[in-house]
Amino acid sequence: MAIIAPSLLAADFLHLQREVEMVNKSEADWLHLDVMDGMFVPNISFGPMIIEFVKKVTTKICDVHLMIEEPSRYFEQFKKAGADHISIHIETCPRLHQDIRQLKAMGLKAGVAINPHNPASLLSDIIADVDIVLVMSVNPGFGGQKFIPNTLNKIREIKKLIVEKGSHAVINIDGGVTLENAAEIVAAGADALVAGSTVFNAADPVEAIRLLKQA
Ligand code: DX5
Ligand code: ZN
Repeated sequence: MAIIAPSLLAADFLHLQREVEMVNKSEADWLHLDVMDGMFVPNISFGPMIIEFVKKVTTKICDVHLMIEEPSRYFEQFKKAGADHISIHIETCPRLHQDIRQLKAMGLKAGVAINPHNPASLLSDIIADVDIVLVMSVNPGFGGQKFIPNTLNKIREIKKLIVEKGSHAVINIDGGVTLENAAEIVAAGADALVAGSTVFNAADPVEAIRLLKQA
């Protein structure tokens, strides 16, 4: 069964506590938290302050996705706010190996995120050092976009790379995950699925999470 990580980006922020409590009583494993700076991505979302409030209510693992430039400037703040995982983009980190090492030294699970245009091969010398590979299946910045089909090949390639390099990384897929494509994504080798609009726009979000988990 796949790990399910509802993305809070699609939640009703006027009723954040209610939304986080809904996730608590569901079969979700992680809570995915999308941080955007309006620089690396064309959208601005929320930062450590919101995560600190969410942390007071959530019973799930806080899976933080940093879509920001020079993310290492904020590692301490996000850890303090309650992050359990931090994933950083390969596109924003010229010293990725060092940043990953720092996250792990801080006691966090360290993830590398990769944009749709970048090939799996780019991960070959870092994959053995990370806990999570966050594969973007849309261009980061917004929820509710359509899944890019080539991601399925990339998942298979990353899976191969994980075996070749003796990595323990889990593959987490982010963007455009629906009840229709979830099974196919898991069959390609995904261990975890992020889902924003599929969960929070559903008439019954707890049931949508259950169905994703069955995929
Ligand atoms: C996109 C974010 C995603 C987003 C997914 O930049 O990283 O986590 O919330 O939203 P859906 O599931 O609606 O595509
Ligand atoms: Zn995300």
